[in-house]
Amino acid sequence: MTPDAAGPRATIVVGVTGGIAAYKAVSLVRTLVLAGHDVHVVPTEAALRFVGAPTWEAISRNPVTTQLYEGVDQVRHVALGQLAELIVIAPATANTLAKLAHGLVDDLLTNTVLASNAPVVVAPAMHTEMWRNAATQANVATLRERGVTFVGPASGRLTGNDTGAGRMAEPDEIAETALAALKRRGRGPRSRRARIDEASDAGRLDLDGLRLVVTAGGTREPFDPVRFLGNRSSGKQGMAIAAAAAARGASVTLIAANIGTDALPATIDVVDVSTTLELEKAVTDAAAGADAVVMAAAVADYRPAQVQQGKIKKEHTGERLTVEFVVNPDILAELSAAKREGQTVIGFAAETESDPATLLELGRKKIARKGCDFLVVNNVGWNHGFATDDNDIVVLNRAGDIVMEASGSKLSVADRILDATLSGREESTRHA
Ligand code: C5P
Repeated sequence: MTPDAAGPRATIVVGVTGGIAAYKAVSLVRTLVLAGHDVHVVPTEAALRFVGAPTWEAISRNPVTTQLYEGVDQVRHVALGQLAELIVIAPATANTLAKLAHGLVDDLLTNTVLASNAPVVVAPAMHTEMWRNAATQANVATLRERGVTFVGPASGRLTGNDTGAGRMAEPDEIAETALAALKRRGRGPRSRRARIDEASDAGRLDLDGLRLVVTAGGTREPFDPVRFLGNRSSGKQGMAIAAAAAARGASVTLIAANIGTDALPATIDVVDVSTTLELEKAVTDAAAGADAVVMAAAVADYRPAQVQQGKIKKEHTGERLTVEFVVNPDILAELSAAKREGQTVIGFAAETESDPATLLELGRKKIARKGCDFLVVNNVGWNHGFATDDNDIVVLNRAGDIVMEASGSKLSVADRILDATLSGREESTRHA
């Protein structure tokens, strides 16, 4: 990555806390330095047990200290915090997440974060039990609420023989998220208060306090390292819903499947995924703390049974290529079945059926099959529905009744979808 690709040279603080994944942060620092940035590593004492200061100094090309009381004349913790244009913490332990959530400042890193207005990107790494612990999840929710961007954790092999959620995201993914946050910082990380004020000024604060998860884009199912089965979803409607909800005060997590999200406000927490199984994991994790889940993404119903390690070559396959597919999980149906009390699940049905009555009939059958609270039905075709800026939708409730019809820009339609589902939520709470 060249400095041009990442924008002008910026001062980035990389906080490293005490987990074995610290060794992977070395390559994160290297990527940021090679992208042309001035990188200052702030390890905790515990982090230095895993990777020593000489490594951080050599890789970052800057001096490294953990000491709060060294060089007091330079007021180091404030100076670094004020200088930073971006703070990335990788790996972030449960302990550091707890300290950040509560504003505890007992080392140089936590002091630096508290003394800074820079956007913060955090890559947690810990054992599954610690990640799922209610205390950790509450701290994560608090930090998200304040505009901290989370990347990962991924699911996979942990330090021991166990596997599960808690593995630090790969350094490339963290670097990508960090550089995207840096690009967006022009608009500045708006605090929840600022967001509320903004929405309030616009006269709409009706989603304040609501935690919304939105999926957008289309999944890709690879069958060799260079090819995949995908779909034409542009993610525009899902991104419009995320943006509209954030503007109305909701705290929003967007699970983005193969779409560019740079244009979205920095307060939206974006989790990038590619395949259906990745989307399933990300949305299931995020749904645990959500009041509403909007499944706007176009999810592949099937994935190749086998992914070839090398590129499939015509010389070997001849005139025909047969790829066997296996069925993917139906995430919407799973989420609907696992729904918590008070949680609203909204699905989408993009159908090529152009006759309105038949389209509605398909929608009614679909909502009955999927078990979600609302279904947004729209007609798609070669030239409409995908990639366009306008949409034409009908929202059905569980009984199959039409609760909303809207057409217009995807942003205006997004607001109407939110209106319909919000009034549906209020109704079900009243009847509960
Ligand atoms: O069955 P169909 O693909 O038309 O359903 C569309 C809805 O179901 C969308 O909300 C989509 O996000 C969701 N879906 C899913 N898992 C699948 C396929 C679709 O969650 N495997």
